[in-house]
Order: sequence, then C-alpha cells, then structure tokens
Amino acid sequence: MKLRNMIMSAAATVSMPLMAWNGSVLISTPNTSMLLHADEGSDLRFAYYGERIDESEIHQIHDAWDGLNKEAYPAFGKKIYEPSALQVVHADGNMTLDLEVKNVETTTESDATVTVVTLADKVYPFTVKLNYRAYNDIDLIESWATYSHNEKKDVVLQRFDSFQMPIRQNDVWISHLYGSWAAECAVATEQLMPGVKVISNIDGARNGHLSHPEVMISLDGKPQENSGRVYGAVLCWSGNFKLRFHTDFRDVHKFFIGMNDEASAYHLARGEVFETPRVALTYSNHGMGEVSRNYHRWAREKGNVYNGGKLHDVLLNSWEGVYYDVYEPKMDEMMRDFASIGGEMFVMDDGWFGDKYRRTDDRKALGDWVVDTQKLPNGIQGLINTATKYGLKFGIWIEPEALHIKSELYEKHPDWVLNVKGRDLNLGRGDGEVLLDLCNPEVQDFIYNMVDTLLTNYPGIAYIKWDANVELKNYGSSYLPADKQSHIYIDYHRGLADVLKRIRAAHPDVVMQACGGGGGRASYGVMPYFDEFWVSDNTDALQRIFMQWGTSYFYPSNAMAQHVSASPNHQTGRVVPLKFRFDVAMTGRLGMEMQPGTMSKEEREYASKTIAEYKQIRPVVQQGNLYRLVSPFDGKGLASLMYTDDRADRAVVFAYRMANFNNMLIPRLRLAGLDPDKTYEFHELSVPVGSKPSHIDGKRIKGAILMDTGFEVPFEREYSSRVYELKAVN
Ligand code: GLA
Repeated sequence: MKLRNMIMSAAATVSMPLMAWNGSVLISTPNTSMLLHADEGSDLRFAYYGERIDESEIHQIHDAWDGLNKEAYPAFGKKIYEPSALQVVHADGNMTLDLEVKNVETTTESDATVTVVTLADKVYPFTVKLNYRAYNDIDLIESWATYSHNEKKDVVLQRFDSFQMPIRQNDVWISHLYGSWAAECAVATEQLMPGVKVISNIDGARNGHLSHPEVMISLDGKPQENSGRVYGAVLCWSGNFKLRFHTDFRDVHKFFIGMNDEASAYHLARGEVFETPRVALTYSNHGMGEVSRNYHRWAREKGNVYNGGKLHDVLLNSWEGVYYDVYEPKMDEMMRDFASIGGEMFVMDDGWFGDKYRRTDDRKALGDWVVDTQKLPNGIQGLINTATKYGLKFGIWIEPEALHIKSELYEKHPDWVLNVKGRDLNLGRGDGEVLLDLCNPEVQDFIYNMVDTLLTNYPGIAYIKWDANVELKNYGSSYLPADKQSHIYIDYHRGLADVLKRIRAAHPDVVMQACGGGGGRASYGVMPYFDEFWVSDNTDALQRIFMQWGTSYFYPSNAMAQHVSASPNHQTGRVVPLKFRFDVAMTGRLGMEMQPGTMSKEEREYASKTIAEYKQIRPVVQQGNLYRLVSPFDGKGLASLMYTDDRADRAVVFAYRMANFNNMLIPRLRLAGLDPDKTYEFHELSVPVGSKPSHIDGKRIKGAILMDTGFEVPFEREYSSRVYELKAVN
C-alpha cells in the first residue's frame, strides 16, 4: 500500500530555507525542470517548464527568452482585465488580492523534494502557499495550493485553481477525453484558437463520463505519439472540474486547472486551511507515448492507483450473464463453469439484496444491504463456500453512496439524501435513485459501517465493486447551514475521500473496483483508494478498442477492467468472434461478463488455453510499458499496441483489423520500445482451436529490424486480430 499520506509520514521532513531563494527557484525531476522567479516583495513569476537545466543554465533561459516570464498564480485584484486562478471576497467585502512573495522553503521526502512558495496579500492577512512536489525518480511534478487567513470573519473563495501555466503560443494542440455513458474516453484533438477553451464537468458525483480532468498539450503542432514536446496535466479530484485555456493576441496561452467554481463559493473561517487538489504535471520531448508512460509509472509507484504494483486476478462478473437474477443455482453454475476454464475470482453484481423491497430490478431496494434470501437461501457465506469449493475468490457489488426512495433506508432516514427544502426530489435511475448526503458525518459513518460490517462479517470477500449510478440531482443539504449550501459539490467529495481512507485503513487487502455507471469513476480523485476501475458499460470489443485507447492516455493497464462478453453484444448488437473479444480484453485486467456455460466446446477449449496464456503474459501487460503503435482514431481500420517489460526482454504485441474494404492497405507493423540489439523470438498466443499460428511464430528477429522495417501481420477480414509474445533470446 502506498497512500500518499503514508509516504508523507515516512518521509524525512527536514525543512530548510533555500539559500538562493531570493530569485530563481529551480524544481527538477530526472529529465525535466520548472523554473519560478520568486523575488521577495514581488509577485511570483513562472519562467520555464521543459528539459532539465541546471543552476548554471538559468540565465541562459532568460537570455534566450529575452526575460519573458508571466505571473505564476494570478489572483483577481491587480490585473483584473486578465484571467485569474484565485478570487476571494474578504471579510469586509473587498474583492481584490495583491499577493507578494514572502518565503520559499524546501522539504525532502524519501523520493521527492517539495518546494513551498508562500505568498501573502500586501494589506490583508491572507496567505497562499503554492506547493510543488518534484519526484527524483519519475518526471512528474505535483502542484497544489493552500489558503488560510486571519481576517475577522469568513473569507469567501470564489475561484480556487490548483495550478496555472503560461504556454508560449506557436502551433499548440490539446488532446483530451470526451464521451458519454457507454462511449467513454474518445480522444479529442484540437488546435488552441483565440478565445477560451473550457473543459469542465458538473455531474457532481462522477467526473469521467462526458469529459475528463486530464489533458495533453502538444507544443509542436499536431500531436505525435513518439515525437514532439508535450505537457501533461492531470487533476486528482473526483468532483466537478474546470480546465481553461485563454488565448488572445498576446504571446502566451494561459492554462488554468482546478475544481469547478460554479455554484461552489466556499466560506473559509479564520485559521482554517483550504487545500486544492493536486495537479500532476509531466513533460516529454518524445511525444504523447512517453507522457502516458510517465503517468502509468506515477500511478503504479506513487500510490495514485491503490496497490498499483499488484497483479490482478482473471474474474467473472455476473452482470451481463444474469443481470438481477443472481439466484444461488445460477451463481453456482457460473462459478463452476468459470473455474473449469481457469478463472480466479467470481464477482456477484447487483441484485443480491433487499428484504421489504427486493432488488429484482433497478426500481427499488438500493440502500437496503441485507441479503435477499429468496435468491440466496444460504446467504453470502454460502456463495463464498461455493467459490472456495471451486478454487475461486469471491467478490460482491455495492453502491454505497446512493439509495432508491423505495427502500427501508429512505423510510428511516429521508433527511440523509441530498434534497432541496420545499421542492420535490429529482429522481435518477429506476425512477427513484438519489445520492446520500456525504457532507453529513452521520451519513459518512453509515457508509463506512455498512462496508466495514460486510467485510468483517465475511472475511471471504476478496473484492468489492463500488458503483455510483446517479449524478448529483438535488443541490441541497439538510446538514449544511444555509450559508454553506454552496459547499455541497466540494464537501461531498471530501466526505467520500474520508470514508474511503477509513475503509482502506481497516481493510487494506480487499481489491476494490471503482465503477461509476460504467466509466464515470475513472478518476485520479478516487484511484488512490481503488485497485482498478470499470472502463465502460459498453463491452463491445470494437468500441472498446477506441475507449481503452483513450483511457490509456492517462491510466495504466492494471487499473483498466476489461471483460469478454456475449455475442451479439448486449449494447451494440455486434457479432464478433470470441478470439477478437479476448484479444481486446487482454490488453488490461482481463475478465469475463457472460455465462461461460453458453460457449461451445471449442470455444471453452480456446478460452481455457487463452486464459492460461494471459496468466503468463500478465506481468508484462499489467505492469509493462505501453507503446501505442497504430491508432484506431486514425481511420485506417487498424489498431495496434504493445507492452514491454523494463529490460525490454519480453514484449506482448496486440494488433486488430477493424474494417474490411477491397484493396485496403495493411502496412507492416513497426514495433517500439524494444532493445535494437536484442533478438526476439515470436510466439503467437490466442490461436483458435483448429487454426494454425501465422508465419512469424517461432521466428527470431532483431529489435532494430522490428522497429525499423517492421513485420507483416496476416489478418483475415474485419474483427480479426493477432497477439504475439516476444522473448529476447540473446
Ligand atoms: C452499473 C454498472 C454495471 C452494473 C450495473 C448494476 O450500470 O456500470 O456494470 O454493475 O450498474 O446495476
């Protein structure tokens, strides 16, 4: 377990003033540097972020750039005609800030250096601390802000960005993720044009469906996978967010990133500290691929995906196989069939609970976490016993943040849901789902106790799928006082994080999946507590190629839950071969989401062989370095990606043909990330029963040749695919 707070407490926190602080502040990672200018009594300037430079080269940046630098954290007050990162209303009604540098300090942690620049208003007792954690083993800088004050009454925070960066105008493009339920994480690529480009979210509960708080910024024209200078910025927040790019006729784009300020004015009491979420920043001059790999390493190694170094089991989830019909004999059958093809974990999805109201569909019972004994006469323990009998681990679905108004929980605690006094409730899924008020500590305790009791009573539960199927529809809290109703969007997520921290402290080993009605919880706001997330409710292999591609821009493969489902697919009706479905799901954490018993004898034989092969390549797939080779978004009807281990001794290559036209060009596949001097032996995996492996199986070819001229991939028509394992032989 590598939660950040644990790292913090284990760190050497010797605080020392930076000798040369009156002037340049150089913040460096192994290959990158950020340069600030902190002159006491002046505003903080942002001078540079790019390739690593050393102290002696600082003046060269200034000479080359003719001194061009901009304010690092503009606050509303001085240049009110320019966009700001921070805006407040002081206790006396004054709406301006004029911040000056007071101090710069650095603290060392075991794997990073944290630089803190303290700014204070020239007149009001209002302090801003800008924090920069630079890792010494990954090219990653985390930045966040904290505010506090000593004014007589509350100061109201109106805008509270985590970070701002000026970006020199040239031919700057951004790549970000957009979509909807069942179509998450398409990649949008666009040039920054005059005006304001805003990427934001106001769902209130989940922030991964329609847009994402992550962006890549390519400085040298259209984004390239393996070349060009690229920044990455990722907001570690599960609530509403706002990213803004202000572009006018001046020399720089101004990029702001933070929590969304809409309907979120925040009252800060004297002596209280407000901390913004972290922004994780990276830079590479080797294109988007390296930016992604930096994020993947940071996620796995720095606690930003829970237990990020752990290998995950091959699991079967009951949802698409039986939906709400989780009757004991069906569960038994699914477990038996899955165990017989090499499965390792069985997860019972929605439908298992409810007494007065039974969860036979989505129109009731959510919130009543007692077993439906009509479906499961031997309860949860009975299922755990069955799983154990078949050699499987057992997992279970819950949706702790919400209830359906047709539930005993709502009858007992109507005041526990977010609701607007005097108005009817706006209802979600199943005409009755609403969110619990996580601003309320009593509700937080209820959720914690529910999960804790479940896990304590049934130590055999090895996995939890934590769902979140409704947006924040009712903007009112009966817990918060009248003048703090505007805290709901923020306090909901702070409450959620507190609950998750408590659960993790009590149950460090249980595997937890974040699900947000599909991919809504693919979010670095919650991933420090979750091992993985559900990529999408759409399990169609063809569309998954696109969604998983986009998700991989910022998220590592071990966090991406990818399931083989039935054909025709339940969401799109598409019919694709089982092999294609496996080959698409195998690029992340492989699972299944169907009745394994419906497969033919040949299919079962194939699935069993392929699951065994997946277990062999699992360390490379789940922990390896990703190279995206051919993008499905390029419209060539093809896609390909690969993983290598750290020494480039092993690699796994996936290639897909998604379309079929006469005379369609299939270029040779050129690999990446190999050692040019090593020779690799090919083994084709996932070969259907009765088929022969392709020509390259067993051949030995040098890395340089594979990366330079590439090799021919024999495809049949559309929905044909190939998986190769490569092993260095010298
Ligand atoms: C959401 C999830 C699904 C499934 C259902 C159950 O839609 O994304 O995977 O768990 O809820 O109701």
